Amino acid sequence: MVEIRTENLRKTFGEIVATDEVNILIEEGELATLLGPSGCGKTTLLRLIAGFYEPDRGKIFFDDKEITNLPPHKRNTGMCFQNYALWPHMSVFDNVAYGLKLKRINNMKYTKIAVERRVNEALSLVHMGDLGHRHIHQLSGGQQQRIALARALVIEPDVLLLDEPLSNLDAKLRIEMREEIIRIHNEMSITTVYVTHDQHEALSISDRVAVMDEGYIQQFDTPQEIYANPQTIFVADFIGQCTFIDGVIKSIDDQITVGIPNNQSVVGQTTIDGYPFETNEEVKVAIRPEDLHLKREGPKDNEIVGKVTRIIYIGNAVEVYFQVGEILAQALLDPDSEIKEGDDIHLFAPMDEVMILPLGGVDALRKVPDHPLALAPAPSSASSDV
Ligand SMILES: Nc1ncnc2c1ncn2[C@@H]1O[C@H](COP(=O)(O)OP(=O)(O)OP(=O)(O)O)[C@@H](O)[C@H]1O
Ligand SMILES: [Mg+2]
Repeated sequence: MVEIRTENLRKTFGEIVATDEVNILIEEGELATLLGPSGCGKTTLLRLIAGFYEPDRGKIFFDDKEITNLPPHKRNTGMCFQNYALWPHMSVFDNVAYGLKLKRINNMKYTKIAVERRVNEALSLVHMGDLGHRHIHQLSGGQQQRIALARALVIEPDVLLLDEPLSNLDAKLRIEMREEIIRIHNEMSITTVYVTHDQHEALSISDRVAVMDEGYIQQFDTPQEIYANPQTIFVADFIGQCTFIDGVIKSIDDQITVGIPNNQSVVGQTTIDGYPFETNEEVKVAIRPEDLHLKREGPKDNEIVGKVTRIIYIGNAVEVYFQVGEILAQALLDPDSEIKEGDDIHLFAPMDEVMILPLGGVDALRKVPDHPLALAPAPSSASSDV
């Protein structure tokens, strides 16, 4: 088991900055996910860790050992690609054995019997022990996915790198394979980096999730923290649902009072420990749909008034969309609530659940000394460590 640490990692392709200022520490045995929209730099970061790309700047460590310039085959990582990259003309057994045989040539480590034993162990780990003789084209997508996983695992890697491993599978198989990956990860306690753009998948399998946007890690935290305490507007928006209202800070004490359109105001709190908000600062107020209630739950609840434009019944709840000034807000209410489209509604949000976020995205976090993201200095002063 190893710990993976990066220092101020940057990779460009010509003009494109694929990933930048990546400072991340993935602990021994942790399952960490890289999550973000298409093109945000997930694969690039994974390939940097695997050694397929050299960074323009920055360092990568496995435990205390710097591996930034070590070739991929010396890093002892197992990688599983989105398209499986299996050899169709070879049997299942030979596909899985391939990596081991390469290793055997290098250091004489594996006898034929040892290869056979290890391949069979890897195949039974992914519940494919009976199919070693089959050819790849005789397998279903889910079975091929398992073989790709077995091939990554057979070399007993220190680090397992998985790039959207479930994206080619149908919904049911995805869930099955997701559970398999969790089981295998738990059995082997192997440090794993898992790439996905599916937030549901990320939240359900990860110890911690790194949410990425435009090459930057916006937050690296447990699923619970990411949802409850987003550090940027992007994270609040990308994970789950959120209504955002533009506001200006009126006063700051234990809570923050923010003026919002139509002369309303709300009281909420910051999700960023130590963020130096100022009076008159422009901010975003973010409220999750499930935090808006029809009944006032206490004197300190915020009231938000709007006109209902649409109601969607989703079985155990109704999604209620309502207009607050220019903004379309969303609440999740009891299906028995007697609300109709066109109604004026008064909803209440407990002030503990109203999130106040600064403008300026991940850059704004530089204002917080020792923020866990440990951002490098602003680009203008960062060029010294090239
Ligand atoms: N080999 C390359 N040459 C040029 N540009 C590249 C190369 N690889 C990636 N990029 C660019 O770098 C950025 C990050 O790409 P990357 O593949 O890391 O994104 P991603 O988050 O994995 O996206 P997806 O979810 O679509 O797989 C994108 O703008 C992409 O176009
Ligand atoms: Mg990718």
